[in-house]
Amino acid sequence: MRGTTPQGARDEREAARWVQAMFGRVAHRYDLANHLLSFNVDRYWRAHTVRRVRDVLRKPEARVLDICCGTGDLLLALEAGRLGIVFGSDFCHPMLVAARGKVQRRGARAGLFEADALALPVRDGALDLITVAFGFRNLANYRAGLEEMRRVLRPGGVAAILEFTRPPNRAFRSVYEYYARRVLPWIGGAVSGSRDAYAYLPESVRKFPEAGELGEAMRQAGFAAVEYEFLTFGITALHLGTA
Ligand SMILES: C[S@@+](CC[C@H](N)C(=O)[O-])C[C@H]1O[C@@H](n2cnc3c(N)ncnc32)[C@H](O)[C@@H]1O
Repeated sequence: MRGTTPQGARDEREAARWVQAMFGRVAHRYDLANHLLSFNVDRYWRAHTVRRVRDVLRKPEARVLDICCGTGDLLLALEAGRLGIVFGSDFCHPMLVAARGKVQRRGARAGLFEADALALPVRDGALDLITVAFGFRNLANYRAGLEEMRRVLRPGGVAAILEFTRPPNRAFRSVYEYYARRVLPWIGGAVSGSRDAYAYLPESVRKFPEAGELGEAMRQAGFAAVEYEFLTFGITALHLGTA
C-alpha cells in the first residue's frame, strides 16, 4: 500500500521530504488555517477522538504517544484528559517548535521529540495508546506506517487514526469536493502564504484509501477489533484498532 504522492515526488524519500518542507512552510499559520477552513469543527473531531480512547487515558501508568503531532492540538487534548504524561512526535521541526510554545503556555505536561513516524525511536511493545490526527495520510508508505504503529504497541494497546476521508453520500461529497478543490486552496493559500500546501490537501485526500480499505489495511497489519466511524457527514473518519 503506497503512501502519499505529492506532485513531482519520484519516490518515498522525495515524498517525505516534500511533506516535511511543506509543513515547515505553513507551521506559523497552521492553526489559524486549520480552524478557519474547518469552521472550527476540527476541535470537535479531536475531542471526539479523546473521548473514544478515554479508558486508556484514565490509567495513570498508560504510555501514550501522538505521532505526527504537528502544533500539538490532539496532544494537548489528550493531555487534558489524562493523569500521566503524553508524548508527541513529528519530523517537522517548525511544527514541533510551535507545539512546544503551546505546551509551555498552557503549562501542560507533555514530552515532545523529533522523529519520523515510519521509524520511531521507541522499543517494541512500549506503548498503550498511539494516536495520529491528519498525519497518517501524509506518510510516504501507509503499510509501513501501520506496521510501525503496531510494533510500538503492547499486545492489547490501542491505535487511533483520525483522518480526512471521502464522504459516502454522493450529493454531499460533490459539494464538499467543490469546496475542498476550488475554495480551500485559495483561503488556505491566503492565510498561510503557501497555496501549494492547500492544493495538496484535497489531492492527498482524493488519493487516500477509502475508510473501509484503511480498516482492511489495519487488519492486514495485525490489528484486531478494527472499527471506524464517519464524523461530520464523512469528512473525516476515526479508525480504532487493537494490537
Ligand atoms: C496535517 S498536520 C497534523 C498535525 C496535528 N496532528 C493536528 O491534528 O493538527 C500533519 C503533520 O504530520 C507530520 N508528518 C507527516 N509525515 C510524517 C512522518 N513521516 N513522520 C513524522 N511526522 C510526519 C507533518 O510534519 C505535520 O506536522
